[in-house]
Amino acid sequence: MYFIPSIRSDIQSLFMARLPQTPVFLLLTISTLISFLAIPSTGENYGFVKSIEGEKISLGKEKLSHFRFYWHDILGGKNPTAVSIVQPVANSSTAFGMVNMIDDALTEGPKLSSKLIGRAQGFYTSASQQEVSLLMAMNFVFIEGKYNGSTITVLGRNPVFNKVREMPVIGGSGLFRFARGYVKVKTHKFDTKSGDATVEYNAYVMHY
Ligand SMILES: *[C@@H]1O[C@H](CO)[C@@H](O)[C@H](O)[C@H]1NC(C)=O
Ligand SMILES: *[C@@H]1O[C@H](CO)[C@@H](O)[C@H](O)[C@H]1NC(C)=O
Repeated sequence: MYFIPSIRSDIQSLFMARLPQTPVFLLLTISTLISFLAIPSTGENYGFVKSIEGEKISLGKEKLSHFRFYWHDILGGKNPTAVSIVQPVANSSTAFGMVNMIDDALTEGPKLSSKLIGRAQGFYTSASQQEVSLLMAMNFVFIEGKYNGSTITVLGRNPVFNKVREMPVIGGSGLFRFARGYVKVKTHKFDTKSGDATVEYNAYVMHY
């Protein structure tokens, strides 16, 4: 109630002191100010954004696909595909803070020797102090058939000792542009000595 009229009168007195009071002059000043605001200082327009219709990038019809494959995490032996890059914090029973970088094989069947259909590249880290639960961040890059070179991205929580875990598919590239969905994962085999694991992945992906 108090400040607004006072500021207004300040501005008015500022204008009155410096500008001639003809309305035409004021209008010209205002329109000049507005046009300066509208033009970028370089005077160039690169077209940062414009909206496009879905058909123009030929998305086709959205479909739901189910993929099943096996993920092989190999820590032991001469050719590990999972490598420790950060050690867990001291005395953590859940290996809290551990980070492993992975380039794991994805195969059609549960055996590592079965047909390679892609790789899981990314990392997982132990993110719980109460139970063994991982934060996983992986790109699955496929090499099989028409999916060769296309990727899906999985980012989620994996409490590894639960029978079935679920993680979101948060996106993709190539045939998986605009992908969304989830993976259900089940440990197929776990070697307590080496830490090697074979995990069945069922991915349900909406894509075009
Ligand atoms: C880890 O546990 C050992 C044995 O209980 C103890 O001596 C040591 O101080 C602990 N270290 C830390 C960093 O808590
Ligand atoms: C996948 O694509 C790459 C690069 O385009 C090509 O070299 C390779 O032979 C393809 N693999 C399969 C299995 O088609």
